[in-house]
Amino acid sequence: MTSTNDLRRGFLDYFARAGHRPVPSAPLVPQNDPTLMFVNAGMVPFKNVFTGLETRPYSTAASSQKCVRAGGKHNDLDNVGYTARHHTFFEMLGNFSFGDYFKERAIELAWTLLTREWGLPADRLTVTVYHTDDEAFALWRKIAGLPEHRVIRIPTTDNFWAMGENGPCGPCSEIFYDHGEHIAGGPPGSPDEDGDRFVEIWNLVFMQYEQTANEITGELPRPSIDTGMGLERIAAVMQGVHDNYDTDTFRALIAASESLTGTRAEGAAKASHRVIADHLRAAGFLVADGVLPANEGRGYVLRRIMRRAMRHAHLLGAAEPLMHRLVPALATEMGVAYPELIRARPLIETTLKQEETQFRRTLDRGLKLLDEATGGMAAGATLPGETAFRLYDTFGFPYDLTEDALRAQGLLVDRAGFDTAMAQQKRAARAAWKGSGARASDELWFDLVEEVGATEFTGYAGEQGEGAVLAIVRDGARVTRAEAGEAVELIVNQTPFYGESGGQIGDAGTATSDGGLVATIEDTHRHLGRLWAHRARIEAGAVAVGDAVRLTVDHARRGAIRANHSATHLLHAALRERLGTHVAQKGSLVAPDRLRFDVSHPAPMTPGELAQVEADVNGQVRANTPVTTRLMTPDDAIAEGAMALFGEKYGDEVRVVSMGTDGGRYSVELCGGTHVAALGDIGLVKIVGEGAVSSGVRRVEALTGEAARAYLNGRDATLREAAAALRTTPDEVPARVAALMEERRRLERELADARKALAMGGSGAGPAGPEQVAGIAFVGQVLDGFEAKGLRGAVDEAKGRLGSGVAAL
Ligand code: SER
Repeated sequence: MTSTNDLRRGFLDYFARAGHRPVPSAPLVPQNDPTLMFVNAGMVPFKNVFTGLETRPYSTAASSQKCVRAGGKHNDLDNVGYTARHHTFFEMLGNFSFGDYFKERAIELAWTLLTREWGLPADRLTVTVYHTDDEAFALWRKIAGLPEHRVIRIPTTDNFWAMGENGPCGPCSEIFYDHGEHIAGGPPGSPDEDGDRFVEIWNLVFMQYEQTANEITGELPRPSIDTGMGLERIAAVMQGVHDNYDTDTFRALIAASESLTGTRAEGAAKASHRVIADHLRAAGFLVADGVLPANEGRGYVLRRIMRRAMRHAHLLGAAEPLMHRLVPALATEMGVAYPELIRARPLIETTLKQEETQFRRTLDRGLKLLDEATGGMAAGATLPGETAFRLYDTFGFPYDLTEDALRAQGLLVDRAGFDTAMAQQKRAARAAWKGSGARASDELWFDLVEEVGATEFTGYAGEQGEGAVLAIVRDGARVTRAEAGEAVELIVNQTPFYGESGGQIGDAGTATSDGGLVATIEDTHRHLGRLWAHRARIEAGAVAVGDAVRLTVDHARRGAIRANHSATHLLHAALRERLGTHVAQKGSLVAPDRLRFDVSHPAPMTPGELAQVEADVNGQVRANTPVTTRLMTPDDAIAEGAMALFGEKYGDEVRVVSMGTDGGRYSVELCGGTHVAALGDIGLVKIVGEGAVSSGVRRVEALTGEAARAYLNGRDATLREAAAALRTTPDEVPARVAALMEERRRLERELADARKALAMGGSGAGPAGPEQVAGIAFVGQVLDGFEAKGLRGAVDEAKGRLGSGVAAL
């Protein structure tokens, strides 16, 4: 038997021998297409190479690309587990020609691999061509020697492949494997083509055109080739099974869930094991590529996949969270081909465990409610939409989970009713929001977030990405377009720019587009916490709603912000350790050039305390341990000792950032900000100020990295200047200053004495006399430039000479 891992490797080796560059799979989150939720075909990472926007140092390539089809245009979630060939995650093997070879070579390469390398009998293979593609028809006859009736002309879009509404496309030719007469179904194009007998294994797309909004709008610079073969399908064929879930990889994953749950994959349990195996792959790979469960966007698709699997684990009677315990099996099966699974294994495990633990808290009660609601219902009946909404809203049941749960009983869900209930809740939220005295100017943002949804922040992982422009706001009003010279706020569906929040200021950078837009992003902030607005100054070109823009964060500035934010966490921990646990954060500012951290503390910090704190923090920096982030429920995070801001409202999930010694337990905080990867990235922390903000609150100001270096350099320059003025070395400055001070005191003393002597008539003898005035002894003199101190001595001296009498000085 040829294992799935051998097939993948064999495919890439074959095409490498035929001169193709083997290209590793791109991440599941598209890097070059903001409108796509996940990479859903092998050609997606090459989209811009086909259209000529991007060039690569090779003109032919081969890959095994990770794909997810769930939640977007190609949504396979509903059927997964119940059919032989539906998956949320799958791998697509493909060979590509970017203006290099075209139809003939593509057909030759495919036919040789299938029939010679892999030895599939030619009489089991049937192909289709687009009905007008005589060229492909003739080539199949010539190269494969197929009889006319096994080269089938298909007039439908089944044989015209397009990535989506926009992008490269062209007629295609599909290769089908005939599983044999014992399975029901007819050849492609026949009335019973939907049967299981003929299975499409490979699609060869002859890329020629580019389309916009489903209309062909141009030709690609050069005709190209994109092929796609589902690895799971070819593995089934090569392993002599009919069902993808009977291939080696799936059998191993299902065996693991059988052994952990103590149930066999038979009868009703069969679908559950399949759902678990499929969803384990999707969840594992999505988390490895940076997606984490959330209530919107990609994160919500992941959550739906996870929770769907978790309900099936519950169905199988798993008493404890199950999914995270299957990760080792996944890593064994697929970790060699995809090392990211091994690297991210701890994150995948904790994410699955947290999600399942959290979901289990409401799953039982939700299922009970569902049982009650469907108690008297007969097959074919429909669950009211409000009930499905309640399950969603109160018990965390994604809509499709409810649908899936009712599937076995043949019950349906009223989707329209669910949508109505959702809309009603939004209206109520809006009324409550208006009643809360919100500013009228916020209404625009409220409308906008309802219309376009929350912005997806992609900037934890990277500083670049594409976003689709959803709205443009100029002077507080929506516009559809903006041009050079204008200052606007850009709203996009996803962005790597951090929107100001939690003391960390917003990112700056640039936005550009293929259409010639060049804009400077000066700042980024959030409206209503969920809608990111990029304050943009358009330097050249124009931007319109619907455009795709390339967003690039100012790397140096973000780096400095990261360092300052992580340093703030270290300061917090060090202050608590040295001053006591009464120290709590009262406010902070994390800017690129400095940080400010306010804490509760009753007295000024002594220089000794500050020096100690600074030494602690820099010790952590030098230890250079990695900074880790986990997603948890607020309760779990606080139970683990994470420092949370008292009185702050947290969502369902919080990010927990751990850093420092003791395995990252030196500092554990709930934080949505961006941080350094390892503490050494901070470079240096210098405390530059400490003072009072209000009674009981102290403010510490500090600098990190380059700013700290520049500050210390400035100090050094000042010292050198002082040394030069004192005609000494910097080291000698304190002694020199002390000596000068001493000398100054001596000179002052001498000057005073001299003045006194001068005043006393130059002899030092003091006032003359005494003389007798009306019988009374009298001493009198006018003294100039005499200090009060000196006067006292002169008076005493005169008194001595007078005995009894009057002295007037
Ligand atoms: N892009 C085509 C498909 O997804 C061939 O790779 O079927």
